[in-house]
Amino acid sequence: MSIKLRTEIPGPRSRELMTARQHHVPRGPFHVTPIFVKSAKGATIEDVDGNLLLDFASGIGVNNVGHCDGSVAAAVRDQAENFMHVAFNVTPYENYIELCKRLNTLTPGDFHKKTFLANSGAEAVENAIKLARAYTKKQAVVCFDHAFHGRTYMAMTLTSKAKPYKMGFGPFNPEVYRTPFPYPYRWAGNALGVSPAIDPQAVDDQCFAEFKDLVINRITPYDCAAVIVEPVLGEGGFIPMSPYFAAKLRAFCSEHKIVLIADEIQSGFGRTGSLFACEQLGLVPDMITTAKGLGGGMPISAVTGKADIMDAACEGGIGGTFGGSPVSCAAALAVCDLFEKGDILKRARHLGSQIHETLLDLEKKHAVVGNVRGLGTMMGFELVKDRTTKEPWADGAKQLTKFCYEHGLIIMTAGTYGNVVRLLMPLVISDAELSEGFEILERGLHFIKA
Ligand SMILES: Cc1ncc(COP(=O)(O)O)c(C=O)c1O
Repeated sequence: MSIKLRTEIPGPRSRELMTARQHHVPRGPFHVTPIFVKSAKGATIEDVDGNLLLDFASGIGVNNVGHCDGSVAAAVRDQAENFMHVAFNVTPYENYIELCKRLNTLTPGDFHKKTFLANSGAEAVENAIKLARAYTKKQAVVCFDHAFHGRTYMAMTLTSKAKPYKMGFGPFNPEVYRTPFPYPYRWAGNALGVSPAIDPQAVDDQCFAEFKDLVINRITPYDCAAVIVEPVLGEGGFIPMSPYFAAKLRAFCSEHKIVLIADEIQSGFGRTGSLFACEQLGLVPDMITTAKGLGGGMPISAVTGKADIMDAACEGGIGGTFGGSPVSCAAALAVCDLFEKGDILKRARHLGSQIHETLLDLEKKHAVVGNVRGLGTMMGFELVKDRTTKEPWADGAKQLTKFCYEHGLIIMTAGTYGNVVRLLMPLVISDAELSEGFEILERGLHFIKA
């Protein structure tokens, strides 16, 4: 058993730290749990009260190779002892180039690519849009319902959900247009309405027709610079795009010289069972944004794309003091090694099928589990008050999260309606740990009450 609870959760020291946090830190940054961490390894977290918990969150989909993987930690240590910061814009260094070269090779697309490194997912998104506009000399950007692209102004504008991400923060950036994402479970022209079992391809066709109408008639391809899409919606509720829809988007963007950007910040680096979700969709984007799993826990993000698009900014037009920190580059290169030389992807695919099977079983047994979906280990389910009305049960998801962490399992929610339970365990989790976690999740499903 990995979980060992010695105190109630949160324990006394976590509670003490939370009081200090309330005093010194603004309320804006949220917490999924009130648990303060002392250390973490593999798929377990030790809190400051000596409790051991299982992690099905991976720090929001970051620790794909596990907490404190030995080779990643060693790479960080070695680099930190050598030099930690000089700024790539002042005196460049080799591991930045090495990482860009690796990403140029590993990302989908058999053409000359270049990579730019930044610090966070939102920053990667910002830079991808800047480059797409500079390259096309056009302004409009199309994004999707339920999308999440980050919290800076452009990334927030591209994000769909208003509360908490946008509320009170307007005005937003101009020339951003939104179109429906194929979400078959809630598709009837009314997101919250009762929808009959609908053919997912029919949803794809309707969404694509709306997208096309938006670009052709309300923007015009003449003014449309880019389309940005998550191959699997992350914060939006773990909704995978179909290969059919991906192919339609790809063909349309190519025909109209619109830059197609795949945001793989959450779905990338093995989360879906392939290095990038795009590979399973047969999608070759013009640009791809990555972050989270890339750094194995260190802050780093990347924009990789066709060389001529990436070269569109003038010298000094993109950059930053810390972007592509040598310590983060060292960590990311160790992560790339693990994926290229190890068997993490094989493990991820094995986990993905186990998770899917277990969740389908929970769906059979629990009427509140409305829709199991995802790709690979990027798997989740909707909690609904009633299977017929599909009324989202956000409070149920909150209750379940609390029950789980109080019993030693950390999970997260997602979705525009806050009712999706998403599972983002480290891909190195053992079968025994996986079943231990699912056992708590199932007890939680019995426990939660309307
Ligand atoms: C798809 C996607 N894009 C962008 C971001 C923003 O990344 P960051 O929080 O590192 O700015 C996230 C974060 O959850 C994400 O899931």
